[in-house]
Amino acid sequence: MSDEENGIEKLPGVGPATADKLRDAGYTTMMSIAVESPKSLAELCDIGEAVAIKVIAAAKKEADVGGFETGDVVLERRQKIGKLTTCSKALDSLMGGGFESQAITELFGEFGSGKTQIAHQCAVSVQMKEKDGGLDGDVVMIDTENTFRPERIAQMAEALDLNVKDILSRIHVARAYNSHHQMLLAEKARDIAEDHDVKLLIVDSLTSHFRAEYVGRGTLADRQQKLNKHMHDLLRFGDINNAVVIVTNQVSAKPDAFFGDPTRPIGGHIVGHTATFRLYLRKSKAGKRIVRLIDSPNLPEAEAVVLIDEKGVRD
Ligand code: GTP
Ligand code: MG
Repeated sequence: MSDEENGIEKLPGVGPATADKLRDAGYTTMMSIAVESPKSLAELCDIGEAVAIKVIAAAKKEADVGGFETGDVVLERRQKIGKLTTCSKALDSLMGGGFESQAITELFGEFGSGKTQIAHQCAVSVQMKEKDGGLDGDVVMIDTENTFRPERIAQMAEALDLNVKDILSRIHVARAYNSHHQMLLAEKARDIAEDHDVKLLIVDSLTSHFRAEYVGRGTLADRQQKLNKHMHDLLRFGDINNAVVIVTNQVSAKPDAFFGDPTRPIGGHIVGHTATFRLYLRKSKAGKRIVRLIDSPNLPEAEAVVLIDEKGVRD
């Protein structure tokens, strides 16, 4: 347990009982409390809203919320950005050489469009040496839909002449049972990264639990706020560990057109604005997928065609 975790009961107005409630609800760090809304904290921890307001204010003082850095520090970090191969040259070049570390890449598209397949492929390729397009690192996968398939990883590893057992042993998978659990697991990923050199964090799917749990008009603001915090946790993980972050997001068919397709990503502005790269996937003929890069900070909007077959993702 870190000092930060131990410090919760030292916050003014927080006795041992409240500290336990906070910890039971998953608020184990000052930062997790500092960035929460009073309403959510009150509800999730079964404390009064007035208490929640005080606790949050106190946690803000304790936690290093500011996070200002000088430009030279940012530059130094950015010079370390890695590029992860997707095993498709076309997709790599669409992304300017591969999926970037210190960034979130969002894969969005319909069911069966290949989001989970690309995530699986990256869970294998990230373990390859840098000279082969990998980042020689471990993987943390947060699986919300129970779609992680070790057999599929094995198939992809064999296709690349990699040792299946080694590859599987460096993928740390956790099933997330609801959105709150999912957010906790994203925080837990930090613990794994202390013991292993994690270079890829996958959340597949980012939005399914949120979509299922927050239904109806009144819940939208709350959902977006939670998603926002979650995305920032993920981004922070990517920054600290110089890791690639991949999230998936199923689209819902809506009548208003989105680049000619009648689809819109779930999570709206929050996910869209926090993800650094957004890739829109659509099915095409004979195992092919069309991947469109949308909203990149420094790359042109363009498309690539990839193939998904037994081997995994290819050209
Ligand atoms: P949702 O999670 O439902 O939103 O879909 P998704 O976008 O994650 O789709 P996913 O990546 O699971 O893609 C599934 C598709 O990949 C299948 O319909 C197949 O077309 C293809 N696929 C998966 N495994 C194999 C395989 O072993 N061989 C071949 N040829 N295709 C595969
Ligand atoms: Mg999937």
